[in-house]
Amino acid sequence: MANNDQTPDPEVTTTTTSTISTTSTISNDEATTNTNSNIRTYQGITYDMNDPKYQGLSKNALKRLLKEEVWNATRNERNKYQKEKKKRKSAERRKLIQEGVIPPPPPKRQKTEIEPSSVRVVMDCSFTSYMHDTENKSLQAQLVRCHSANRAGLHPMQITVTSFDDTLKDIFEKKTPTFTNWKNIEFTKDSYLDKFDKSNLVYLSADSDNVVRELEDDKVYIIGGIVDKNRHKGLCHNKATEQGIATAALPIGEYLQMASRKVLTVNHVYEIMIKWLETRNWEKAFLEIIPGRKLKESKLIGDENQEEEEVNEVTTSSSTDNNDISNKNDEDNKEDKEEEQ
Ligand SMILES: C[S@@+](CC[C@H](N)C(=O)[O-])C[C@H]1O[C@@H](n2cnc3c(N)ncnc32)[C@H](O)[C@@H]1O
Repeated sequence: MANNDQTPDPEVTTTTTSTISTTSTISNDEATTNTNSNIRTYQGITYDMNDPKYQGLSKNALKRLLKEEVWNATRNERNKYQKEKKKRKSAERRKLIQEGVIPPPPPKRQKTEIEPSSVRVVMDCSFTSYMHDTENKSLQAQLVRCHSANRAGLHPMQITVTSFDDTLKDIFEKKTPTFTNWKNIEFTKDSYLDKFDKSNLVYLSADSDNVVRELEDDKVYIIGGIVDKNRHKGLCHNKATEQGIATAALPIGEYLQMASRKVLTVNHVYEIMIKWLETRNWEKAFLEIIPGRKLKESKLIGDENQEEEEVNEVTTSSSTDNNDISNKNDEDNKEDKEEEQ
């Protein structure tokens, strides 16, 4: 039976050609010439308005359902494309390593070396409505980096991504569909308040007057999942204070006199934590993780010989193992730009 209430949205009826079809096997040509019948097309999918699953749906609901069907029907193509892209990128990377343009990756860790940490981390992703689309995408990319750092770390932490809503979920499904299988990371719609004892929570925030001395085993450190170029100043700190949760800043000010703001990206905060667990040395962790661009005009604190020099011109004699900060290469800076969006 025709459903005359459901005149398809003009956007919904398209003439894109494709072999994908849903319940109807009618060809696309037929569908487009058959506009007075109940056969319609949407992005190459032909569908029959008489099909019970389409009946009674509003234009928007119909569009959503069709979109989902297109998405599912093109999964194999997408995966194939992603695989090829990954292969191409690895080949390019191998070539750059061979040519000495970029350094080779650090050797893979032996499984026996890895000792999971009992420090826990929450990524509070309740801020998607504060961000533009590109910022939400950047957040997803930063979370992927956290996961990579966790995998590469000697002491991986257990991560809980809380308030994981559909906005972020959709991006993950599109960009990294295997995320549900990742180890040591849980995604939940729940808030951290539903998952953990309040007394163990510490919200990390550059705005806090408290400073983290060490990462403690029984604590759950919350990182605000937001990419905002600090447009929403004090947002996370205010939230934590209102909820009666302890807050603390990383001890950056004790090691570095930063020329720019001390607010770091989600992944840099996470990577610093992972590095600290490995080295128990904040200075080393900051110098290795904070991007060269940010360190460029900073000064190391407490090193009299170097006090007047710019950190990026210095080879530190302390725990940085002659780590010349200026060696943080262009690649590093390029990545930071992408992350900071
Ligand atoms: C890009 S920042 C968010 C800035 C945001 N306007 C806010 O209200 O905090 C992302 C998160 O990284 C963590 N973070 C960034 N810099 C930090 C610092 N210096 N000390 C502790 N945590 C920091 C915080 O958890 C913060 O919420």
